[in-house]
Amino acid sequence: MINLREAGCADNQALSDLEMACPQGKDVKLLLEREDFFARSKMYERAHTFVAEEEGKVVGVISCAFKDVNLNGATLKANYIYDLRVHPDFRRRGIATKLVDAVEILARENSVDFGYGFIVDDNTAPRKLLVKKGFSVKRRFELPTIQISRKRKVQKVEVKLAQSRENIARVSEVLSEYYRNYSFFISESEDKYFDRVSKMNSEGVFYAEGDGGFATVSILDYSKIFNICVLDLPITLKLMGFLSYIIRPFLSFPNVPKKGGTIKQWYLFDVGFSEKEGEFLFQELLDYVNNLAVDKGIDCLVCAIDTGNPAHKILSKRALVKLQGEIIMKPYTKSVPNKITKVYLDVRDL
Ligand SMILES: CC(C)(COP(=O)(O)OP(=O)(O)OC[C@H]1O[C@@H](n2cnc3c(N)ncnc32)[C@H](O)[C@@H]1OP(=O)(O)O)[C@@H](O)C(=O)NCCC(=O)NCCS
Repeated sequence: MINLREAGCADNQALSDLEMACPQGKDVKLLLEREDFFARSKMYERAHTFVAEEEGKVVGVISCAFKDVNLNGATLKANYIYDLRVHPDFRRRGIATKLVDAVEILARENSVDFGYGFIVDDNTAPRKLLVKKGFSVKRRFELPTIQISRKRKVQKVEVKLAQSRENIARVSEVLSEYYRNYSFFISESEDKYFDRVSKMNSEGVFYAEGDGGFATVSILDYSKIFNICVLDLPITLKLMGFLSYIIRPFLSFPNVPKKGGTIKQWYLFDVGFSEKEGEFLFQELLDYVNNLAVDKGIDCLVCAIDTGNPAHKILSKRALVKLQGEIIMKPYTKSVPNKITKVYLDVRDL
């Protein structure tokens, strides 16, 4: 018989083992190695994890985080659903359905307006499951992945690390303006913004200024949360990996992921720039971050971004791989609009 309960620290090893039994994706097949299963949840102010057990063995898990987000101008309470896994030997027995029910009951008890999740395109099982549970696709997003190869020249721009309250306040002000009309944007005070970024093991908030223009990008080192192991790749990437192995000693060629290897990646988040001069400054910032990544032995930079975001065009041009996915939502109250505009993607959610 399946028993559901809220998870605690004592479940960490069982949950990390469960994760290792649950590869994700079809073309790009990945496994997440997690020392602290709860590290991801610790980035949120309020998160819950439920486990499903059969005869004392943990066979399924789900997590959810409550947060306030903007949706078409109104602030609503959202429940982000993540880390849904069921051990392969226990699938198609309704366990994931029961886990989703548990987080939905909790959400309704806490007057949450809607639930949402992200699903990468080739992951059909969770999409079918959530659609069956009443979720629907609301918007698509992209994950441009920039492979790191060599250092780039950063021209005339001085890139700074925002550390003081004053600098952080300036970044937060630019981002509030940039994402003013984006769904899911979290408008918060500078202090709250600072706290949120500090809680996230961020590698730093970087910005560049010049001639009245401004651009910013922040970095999250996800290897502090999990290591990504590559179980399988599409043939195109396998060929590129082979080519890279031959060419790299002689020429600059991006480091392509290999089957059996691990990927060290930095997530870029809170990207934004002013209309005037901003695009040039943003390009320079990306070159600067590229150089930092070379120094730190990082394989690639990833950014989850709405394709309508002006920064998308720039990131996409530099990217070798562009996975796509869907934002899937379910309203619990009448305040939730049916259509949503361009989306701000919270890096903690990915
Ligand atoms: C997705 C996952 C959690 C589903 O767990 P599960 O316990 O097997 O799901 P359920 O038994 O509750 O399935 C409910 C419904 O979802 C759909 N579904 C589940 N797995 C499916 C699959 N492999 N293919 C197609 N539909 C599927 C079906 O409609 C199913 O109803 P049915 O069995 O009556 O046809 C599990 O496959 C898993 O852990 N996958 C790997 C991790 C992952 O991808 N997590 C999601 C990240 S976004």
